[in-house]
Amino acid sequence: MQKILITGASGFVGSFLVEEALKRGLEVYAGVRKTSSRKYLQDDRIQFLELDFNKLDQVHAQLAAVKFDYVIHNAGVVKVDKKKDFFTYNTKLTTDFASVLMDLQPDLKKFTYISSAAAYGPADNLSKGYVEESDNPTPIDTYGESKLAAEKWLKGQSNFPYLIFRPTGVYGPRETEIFTFFKAFNQGLEGHIGRTPQKMAFIYVKDLAKVVLDGTLSKKTQKSYFVSDGNAYPTQDLGKYAAKYLEKKPFLKINIPIGVVAVIASIGEGVGRLTGKMPVLNKEKVKILKSKNWQVDIVPLQNDFNFAPAYDLESGLLETIQWYKENKWL
Ligand SMILES: NC(=O)c1ccc[n+]([C@@H]2O[C@H](COP(=O)([O-])OP(=O)(O)OC[C@H]3O[C@@H](n4cnc5c(N)ncnc54)[C@H](OP(=O)(O)O)[C@@H]3O)[C@@H](O)[C@H]2O)c1
Repeated sequence: MQKILITGASGFVGSFLVEEALKRGLEVYAGVRKTSSRKYLQDDRIQFLELDFNKLDQVHAQLAAVKFDYVIHNAGVVKVDKKKDFFTYNTKLTTDFASVLMDLQPDLKKFTYISSAAAYGPADNLSKGYVEESDNPTPIDTYGESKLAAEKWLKGQSNFPYLIFRPTGVYGPRETEIFTFFKAFNQGLEGHIGRTPQKMAFIYVKDLAKVVLDGTLSKKTQKSYFVSDGNAYPTQDLGKYAAKYLEKKPFLKINIPIGVVAVIASIGEGVGRLTGKMPVLNKEKVKILKSKNWQVDIVPLQNDFNFAPAYDLESGLLETIQWYKENKWL
């Protein structure tokens, strides 16, 4: 049986990658930390490998013990207290990990890196209306810069069988950020920030897991792919589907002007500099909120892996909302 290691297996995307890898008949090793939740890793077939990327000696010892055919490096951070931590967790730990693999596992068939569309930034200044591989990457936040730095390092490794996926907004069961919108909506509050019409891009987590496994098990190497379901969604669509499938009408609809948000973000950052903690609402978040277009080119995915997502935002949110209800999140 072919062996696959999936890092960040305890997280939202990671747990679905594990499920998809099991469906493909692979021997699945979930890379987790001692402290990681195993709530969504209950299948008896899953083997566990303790991989805390802050402890490189331990990672080295663990990777000397089992030889893998494939590795999906999905562990990463989307929120940190200090901006420089993005480079520690998303860039340095990726390059350290890949270096250990190059050293210990020369027969590895694939190292799949889960990057982000944030590495290239939005398509706001592109007249064609979407971002593609040949564009000059212009991330607008430190998270995107840290993902891009890891990508650049991988692309510099001429004999390493890497593959890079850059998902747009991933949503689905178990996810906790987009969920906050639905939770508030369910309590009667629909909140939006700013009036800039945005063309959002999403991918349902199960479609993402499928295409990442397709790529990982394919012969393709040293290539990068953006991942979305191919549609452009106005931000209001979240509210539209929330109303339809939660069967609720919010009693309070608020739209906070972006100028107000910018002021709050500036104050928050000032306080953050004193406390050493980056506030959730910060100047980079404001840039994201101001951006207009997150469309990406998925033709390479279609050409190389016959990518045809099974879900659009409406069917994906319907399934997600049903899951929230069944699991008493709502
Ligand atoms: N969600 C999205 O919309 C989205 C979009 C584009 C790209 N991505 C990328 O997809 C990947 C997964 O994201 P997610 O949304 O599933 O995030 P998540 O739920 O927060 O999962 C992150 C995973 O990384 C692990 N991890 C973080 N730091 C680690 C360390 N130092 N050592 C070992 N493990 C560590 C976490 O382990 P613990 O459980 O122990 O904390 C967790 O399993 C990330 O690389 C992210 O950048 C996500």
